[in-house]
Amino acid sequence: MKTALITGCSSGYGLETARYFHSQGWNVIATMRTPRDGLLPRSERLHMLSLDVTNADSISAALAAAGPIDVLVNNAGIGVVGAFEATPMAHVRKVFETNTFGVMAMTQAVIPQFRERRSGVVVNVTSSVTLADHPFAAAYTASKTAIEGFTGSLAHELSAFDVRVKLVEPGYAPTTRFAQNTDVRIEDMIPEAYASFAAPIFAAFANPPLVTKETDVADAVWQAANDVSGQLRFPAGADAVALARAS
Ligand SMILES: NC(=O)c1ccc[n+]([C@@H]2O[C@H](COP(=O)([O-])OP(=O)(O)OC[C@H]3O[C@@H](n4cnc5c(N)ncnc54)[C@H](OP(=O)(O)O)[C@@H]3O)[C@@H](O)[C@H]2O)c1
Repeated sequence: MKTALITGCSSGYGLETARYFHSQGWNVIATMRTPRDGLLPRSERLHMLSLDVTNADSISAALAAAGPIDVLVNNAGIGVVGAFEATPMAHVRKVFETNTFGVMAMTQAVIPQFRERRSGVVVNVTSSVTLADHPFAAAYTASKTAIEGFTGSLAHELSAFDVRVKLVEPGYAPTTRFAQNTDVRIEDMIPEAYASFAAPIFAAFANPPLVTKETDVADAVWQAANDVSGQLRFPAGADAVALARAS
């Protein structure tokens, strides 16, 4: 029986991905900063562990407690929306600590066991912002685009050991906690000088023609984790698939 360790399982895409892998008969190690009961079914194949991907001690402790794993899903992430000139550099660094360095640190920590066993898959969840440029997402896009380049390069290097590295690129889901899971407010990051430019963009954003569902991402992570065709990128959700086709 295979084991997947998934980061950021307290809500949204990560929670649904944990449920999906469990429903397919896998062992699932659902990690989150603050584990809590009631989120996931009680099962011998489902273990919750505390993990903050920005903390090296937390990463070591979680991987030691997890034991051998077959798939690492780097899903944990935070967003930032706003004019770049108004985005505090402290917050830009925080976004990179989670979305970029957290992914790299988790990946580096599992490579030895995958390389030694000559098997294993890392699935990095980025975003459809890497498929087309959007205003007011510069810092977030930078954090995710770095992981796109990182993953493509690493996929080559680890193929020497039969270890696979994949990208899942979800579109926009209004239903996850993503917009709320931040300590900066959008209103504080749209200065008056940008207001007239921003208004129609945010109006369109409030009524997107296509969106992504949590199940779309869980399904794409599943496809990526089980893919042996060499495909690197797995857009997830109707909006992301449309962008990928256009790009
Ligand atoms: N929703 C979208 O529109 C969208 C679009 C494209 C890509 N994405 C990406 O999809 C992924 C999941 O996002 P989501 O929409 O499902 O958002 P979400 O509901 O906010 O889930 C994000 C998860 O990441 C966790 N997390 C945040 N910082 C962490 C840290 N330092 N260590 C460990 N876990 C941490 C959160 O846990 P806590 O409970 O500890 O806060 C939460 O479980 C993210 O990488 C995001 O960038 C989202």
